Amino acid sequence: MSVLILAGSSRTESLNRKLQQRIADVAEADGRACYVYAAEELDAPIYNGDDEQENGVPSNTQKLATAISDATKIVIVTPEYNSSIPALLKNAIDWTTRLEQNPWVGKNVLLAGASPGRLGAMRAMTHLMVVMGAVQSWVAPMFLSCPQASAQAINNLDEEQIRAFLRQGD
Ligand code: FNR
Repeated sequence: MSVLILAGSSRTESLNRKLQQRIADVAEADGRACYVYAAEELDAPIYNGDDEQENGVPSNTQKLATAISDATKIVIVTPEYNSSIPALLKNAIDWTTRLEQNPWVGKNVLLAGASPGRLGAMRAMTHLMVVMGAVQSWVAPMFLSCPQASAQAINNLDEEQIRAFLRQGD
């Protein structure tokens, strides 16, 4: 059982990367092998069809696609920007679907998110659910949200809640 945990923020002090690490800590304590990945590791330009024709799909994309294919479960931890997902995350997803084989097909995907707002990235997760449906993944029904997020709020998230979230699709 291996879990890929993908965060959609490139900020050093990112709350979503803290949430990503919190989820990984709980998963690893329960014997799940985790691979923690930040979307900026893709280091790909914003998708452009001309660029793709000229230069092909950026080589790092295959590394992410392999991590997706190898994982039995994928957690995406998304920030919320203007009620939706950040361009960084959408761009990473878009590039992976330009490979010969779409790695997302049939994958078990769990959605999490943190934001300082009262809705804790729920609107972004709702949008992400639609995107993940479009790439033919199965999206688990229970989202993990951290509203009014801070490092402390993320530390204080109930461990049992994280466990129940992670058990989806076992
Ligand atoms: C935000 N933020 C935000 N928060 C929220 O709860 N709902 C929203 O619609 C938005 N919109 C938004 C737009 C833009 C352009 C920015 C830069 C920020 C706040 C955002 O959730 C907050 O900065 C998070 O801390 C970002 O996630 P990371 O980088 O901490 O993981």
